[in-house]
Amino acid sequence: MGRTSKMLLAICLVLILVMAFIYQAVFKKMPNNAPVSNHDSLWMGKSADLLPQDTSLSSQQIRYGYELIAHTSIYLGPKGKVMQITNGMNCQNCHLQAGTKPWGLNYGSVAANYPKFRARSGTVESTVKRVNDCLERSLNGKTLDSNSVEMKAFVSYIHWVGADVPKGTIANGSGIAPLEFLNRSADPVKGKILYTTHCSKCHGNSGEGSLDSSGLSYFINPPLWGKSSYNHGAGMNQLSKLAGFIKNNMPNGINYQQPFLTNQEAWDLAAYINSQSRPNKDISKDWPNLATKPIDYPYGPYADSFPQSKHQLGPFAPIIDYWKSKRSTK
Ligand code: HEC
Ligand code: HEC
Repeated sequence: MGRTSKMLLAICLVLILVMAFIYQAVFKKMPNNAPVSNHDSLWMGKSADLLPQDTSLSSQQIRYGYELIAHTSIYLGPKGKVMQITNGMNCQNCHLQAGTKPWGLNYGSVAANYPKFRARSGTVESTVKRVNDCLERSLNGKTLDSNSVEMKAFVSYIHWVGADVPKGTIANGSGIAPLEFLNRSADPVKGKILYTTHCSKCHGNSGEGSLDSSGLSYFINPPLWGKSSYNHGAGMNQLSKLAGFIKNNMPNGINYQQPFLTNQEAWDLAAYINSQSRPNKDISKDWPNLATKPIDYPYGPYADSFPQSKHQLGPFAPIIDYWKSKRSTK
């Protein structure tokens, strides 16, 4: 090989190394186990610093709504200043950062999509009805009158959060990121071991959370099961929702860009948590059209012949396949 070709070869090698380095640096910045492919267009919620500060009625309502969502228990909890109608949890315990965190159950899509038809009730629901659903189920409490100062504040804040989202569209990153189904059933026994290792130090050995010593704001860490937790008619009692929430948000402080748990661990933890006891709710009127019931809804009756245990823990692929073939032969 001549001198020039050796030089050329060396230059090529250096170039390849530089390109590999750049690729690696860019690639490393990308999130691991990413739940969605397009992170560039992720909707980013407004932080509390941007709350309107003027004295108009609508701005006051928005600010009060923020307060109610961030510190629900102080106003509506078991020792609430305004009413005592909820279990001591705060909306923000699940709708993280007052409903603005990407894939942290944020409210980005509410203003743009309600009123909308919801299969659980089989009716068109307003934001008022949806807030009352969470009050009755997630906070195992009582509903608020649509004309109450508190309900108006809840709705004002939630609609302010999603005001920049075009009508009829879904904000990317709102709600819970869908988690790929496992090809085995979720395992509560494995979940229990993971719970003891990663979660019990905050949420307690019996999922009871930890009480705040002042009493008013109730919990420092919210409960995951037992008498003060969400009831069995709540959205979190559906395996895929709980698993998807945990994956991108727990242990508290992590986010979708750096998840701590693998998908399998998130499913197993959700299986353990949702196999524990929690308050009851009359759900006999839910899912009037059984064919629209989610495949991982933990209670029958079902419109297919898979047993309850399969709907609770999976594997879900056979149920998905069954419904696909049924719909395609229609
Ligand atoms: C225990 C957890 C939990 C708590 C506490 C909670 N929610 Fe929810 N909320 C959920 C889940 C789960 C959903 C359903 C998300 C889905 O279907 O993907 C939901 C959905 C909603 C929605 C509809 C969101 C959408 O995009 O359609 C609104 C509005 C809402 N909650 C308001 C509230 C308010 C207000 C409070 C406090 C009074 C509250 N929630 C407390 C878990 C909770
Ligand atoms: C460092 C303490 C800490 C650890 C560890 C932790 N959490 Fe949490 N968790 C919290 C706090 C605090 C919140 C409420 C967040 C807020 O209000 O901003 C929360 C909220 C939750 C919620 C929604 C609210 C509820 O009570 O239903 C679930 C579900 C949850 N955690 C599950 C888990 C699981 C599963 C693990 C283990 C992988 C875990 N957490 C580890 C502190 C923790």
